[in-house]
Amino acid sequence: MSIKKAIFPVAGLGTRFLPATKAQPKEMMPVVDKPLIQYAVEEAYAAGVREMIFVTGRHKRPIEDHFDMTFELEVALENANKTELLNVVRSVKPKDMECIYVRQAQALGLGHAVLCGQRLIGNEPFAVLLADDLMMGEPPVLAQMVEQYKEWRASILAVQEVPAEHTRRYGIVAGNLVNERVMDVSKIVEKPSPETAPSRWGVAGRYILTPGVFHEIAAQPRGVGGEIQLTDGIAALLRREKVFAYRYEGRRYDCGSKEGFLEANVELALKHPELGDSFRAYLQNLEL
Ligand code: UTP
Repeated sequence: MSIKKAIFPVAGLGTRFLPATKAQPKEMMPVVDKPLIQYAVEEAYAAGVREMIFVTGRHKRPIEDHFDMTFELEVALENANKTELLNVVRSVKPKDMECIYVRQAQALGLGHAVLCGQRLIGNEPFAVLLADDLMMGEPPVLAQMVEQYKEWRASILAVQEVPAEHTRRYGIVAGNLVNERVMDVSKIVEKPSPETAPSRWGVAGRYILTPGVFHEIAAQPRGVGGEIQLTDGIAALLRREKVFAYRYEGRRYDCGSKEGFLEANVELALKHPELGDSFRAYLQNLEL
């Protein structure tokens, strides 16, 4: 059984990126020439997902518009014989991909956002992708996780090793190593201090979850920061089901932070087929 549905929680306030995110969704900020959310959707599509469920909020209409048909633009490009650009515009939403939107009226936390997708997911395993974690992997990170899901038939959390001083930024897992990349998780804690963190394996913004997690999230009181935390729902799920952490191959850019966003722009610009060479020359000539 494969993963056909994914939830993209995009209802957050993006306070770390103010003022850029005052009236514009953080997920629409472009890295080089593509909005963050498009990278995440492309990653899900490459992993075989065809039903994209966006949990949106106020000020998030640009995301819906981005994945809709832009009739006037397409006609103008067609009339001007700009076939390449027309393909760029049309490829944003392949024909066999479906986009569904559900509202989270109040940003009550990531767990609550995921719960908003419950009725659309039903009783099957699904992916969750946080677009502000831009992941570059070959194969793409979610596709690596789907392979792991096929092997373990259980929830899979993407993890990476994080510096001890950064444990407060992540959900941190602990458990028994099954092989060098996979851990059978016995514990997960949201944003622990370095002294109390059970390991240095931090959860990145990619999950494959079994539908049992909905029931667990719904039973959670507000956790760290007064939010309904996905981590707490997963901690409860652990008592009933196996959960595995998978150390993905690839690079993560934390585009919810200004540093990570700038790093992603520089590194992806250097790799860009059209811009790469001239941008590298520009950087080399910069007088710092
Ligand atoms: P973040 O923790 O990055 O929160 O959420 P945020 O509000 O977007 O940003 P900051 O911390 O204030 O700068 C991770 C992901 O979960 C979504 C966000 O949109 C982001 O993609 N989210 C978070 C929701 O959809 N709803 C919520 O209630 C909270």
